[in-house]
Amino acid sequence: MGVNLSGRSFVRLLDFTTEEIEYLLKLSKNFKDMKRAGVPHRYLEGKNIVLLFQKTSTRTRCAFEVGGMDLGMGVTYLDPGSSQMGKKESIEDTARVLGRMYDGIEFRGFAQEDVDELAAKAGVPVWNGLTDLWHPTQMLADVLTMQENFNYDLKGRTVVFMADAANNVARSMMVVCAKLGMNFVGCAPKTNWPDAALVEECSAIAAENGCTVRLTEDPADGCAGADVIYADVWVSMGEPDEVWAERIANLEPYRVTEQVMGYASDEAIFLHCLPAFHDTNTTVGAEKAEQFGITEMEVADDVFESKRSKVFDEAENRMHTIKAVMYATLK
Ligand code: CP
Ligand code: NVA
Repeated sequence: MGVNLSGRSFVRLLDFTTEEIEYLLKLSKNFKDMKRAGVPHRYLEGKNIVLLFQKTSTRTRCAFEVGGMDLGMGVTYLDPGSSQMGKKESIEDTARVLGRMYDGIEFRGFAQEDVDELAAKAGVPVWNGLTDLWHPTQMLADVLTMQENFNYDLKGRTVVFMADAANNVARSMMVVCAKLGMNFVGCAPKTNWPDAALVEECSAIAAENGCTVRLTEDPADGCAGADVIYADVWVSMGEPDEVWAERIANLEPYRVTEQVMGYASDEAIFLHCLPAFHDTNTTVGAEKAEQFGITEMEVADDVFESKRSKVFDEAENRMHTIKAVMYATLK
């Protein structure tokens, strides 16, 4: 039987089979081809979605908005300060209200339990646009970008996640690699390794799919021959300001530099979910430069700007992949 995701929520990739993830990736490519060719695809005309954001966003919000509009849907955006949710109204009540008005709900927030609760109570598909634990829609864009660079053949490729390998993006990457037959390497100090239970779970999934999950503290060892070097911020949204000093001290050896890229395969690409601290042209970047004397954080500017860096293709792919998730679950 073919894949049918109609009515399903999309809150973590562990809930999805390899076949389902591959189906969403194929659909994403179809939507990208249609968009490029100017072929209209207003398949969900008459439906409405709401986007709830407790944290800031550029890519995720815009991908849901443009994706939703391209599919012909009405889109409502509620920013962190402008709904009752969490302040005067519980997540559960909010879910029950929004489920009466909308056909789908996107949620970006802090606690994974909140998006789980929304999904349990809303009665319509709920999509996780990032929580402290997971960032599942990001993974589809990342993998689509890998497919585009490696001729749609990712089995046996190796992805190295550098620096904070315990964060939401790293955890999600470990899962998607295991599910799709790619080797995952978390390259980080032990303080920033993903939790042991998840590593064990992903290792078991990886074994079924002929790949491996590995953690190392050594960038030369971790990146040797790798196909993808992946970076994310050293301090994620929602973490307290006090962690910056310790993170910078611990994670500086894991900055993606030309030397690090040199350990990887000749055709290796650099990916980053963005936003990235690769210079001091942001308020936070300038502030940290002043405070800690560093002008780049997780990625060196020359790597970020190099031909191997596919970060803007990756950012564009957020839209095509999110469109696929909305279509598959709402059609
Ligand atoms: N990668 C990502 O989620 O970007 P935004 O925070 O801009 O949505
Ligand atoms: N780990 C980052 C990802 C941002 C897209 C964060 O949670 O802030």
